[in-house]
Amino acid sequence: MDGRARLIDVTGEKPEAPETWPSVIIRREEIEGEIERLADEARPDNGVRSVNLVHPLATAPGLGLAPGIDARIEVLKPGESTVVRRSNGASVTMNIRGEGHARIGGKTIDFVERDVWNTPSMHPVVYTNHGSDLQARLTFSNRPMLEKLMVFYAEQADAIGEEENWFRSLKEGSAGPRAKDSAPIVPIDDGAFLMPYEHLVDPDTVTNEALVWPWRVVEPKLANVRMIGDGYTGRRLYILYNPATERRNGTTHSFFASIASYPGGIVDRPHRHSSAAINYWFGGSGRSTVSGDKLEWKAGDLMLSAPGWAIHNHASGPDGFYSLTIQDHPLMIAQESLIWQETMKDPIKNLGTQIGFQTNIAEFAHS
Ligand SMILES: [Fe+2]
Repeated sequence: MDGRARLIDVTGEKPEAPETWPSVIIRREEIEGEIERLADEARPDNGVRSVNLVHPLATAPGLGLAPGIDARIEVLKPGESTVVRRSNGASVTMNIRGEGHARIGGKTIDFVERDVWNTPSMHPVVYTNHGSDLQARLTFSNRPMLEKLMVFYAEQADAIGEEENWFRSLKEGSAGPRAKDSAPIVPIDDGAFLMPYEHLVDPDTVTNEALVWPWRVVEPKLANVRMIGDGYTGRRLYILYNPATERRNGTTHSFFASIASYPGGIVDRPHRHSSAAINYWFGGSGRSTVSGDKLEWKAGDLMLSAPGWAIHNHASGPDGFYSLTIQDHPLMIAQESLIWQETMKDPIKNLGTQIGFQTNIAEFAHS
């Protein structure tokens, strides 16, 4: 590097369609094999036995299964714990084998198979396996995006006191007046404002805590969407909604996690969105078409199911399916970048800035 910026002539440059990665599937057998391999190795100093499941076209920095989303498996043997860790990434985890508990930002979560929870940014996290089987967790985070921006920050500590310090630093704040109360915002013409520095360094906060969606509570409620009659034009799922994400409808500020429950023989319509989606199919089977590629999958497979802006649709096999979908939808809404085409005949809409697409749910509401 000679230290000089490059001056690139882009005169008359025309818009180009985004490139998309092809879909990829990591099969159940491969995932189960990795869990056993991780358990067979010597315990690392920090207790974190982990594998990053990386798309073949991913490049560093920011290795993930989608350009901005990683999928990692972490394993603990019975009796093991991790050290305390935290990062400025945010994640969603599904426990896929065994049981255990987590302490996340001072909250204790006991979990079994198929329970899902979120880990907010900078919250101290410790995992323990108090069960008799291996514990395996599948975690999705926005770390690749932060690594691409070269701002991913993480730390770990052995001392239990550090967990308390980190937790206390999250909660501390001035009970008295804030400097911004003495620094008025100045309106100018046509709805624009001038905002003093005191607001820049002390923005309004939104409380964000670890929340858990236990499978024993979620599973019976999925009947509501699975049983919607034939001809329904929406998708049979619930978002695992964290109210901290407000109108961005997320589980973390970057992702929603949704759980879908489909009966057999349903074929969704081809569509596309700028949010990227990863599906963990944890029950049943089915097939998908993604950018023209046909893929078959079954319970336990993990798939980059919708690279951003790739045309795709999914269809359930004879016994239906269950899936966990991770999609960077709230991030896209926050950036005003969530373009969406619900069918390929619909116009491209910018969701969150204009009225979105309508399903025919009213026809099924009282049936
Ligand atoms: Fe989709």
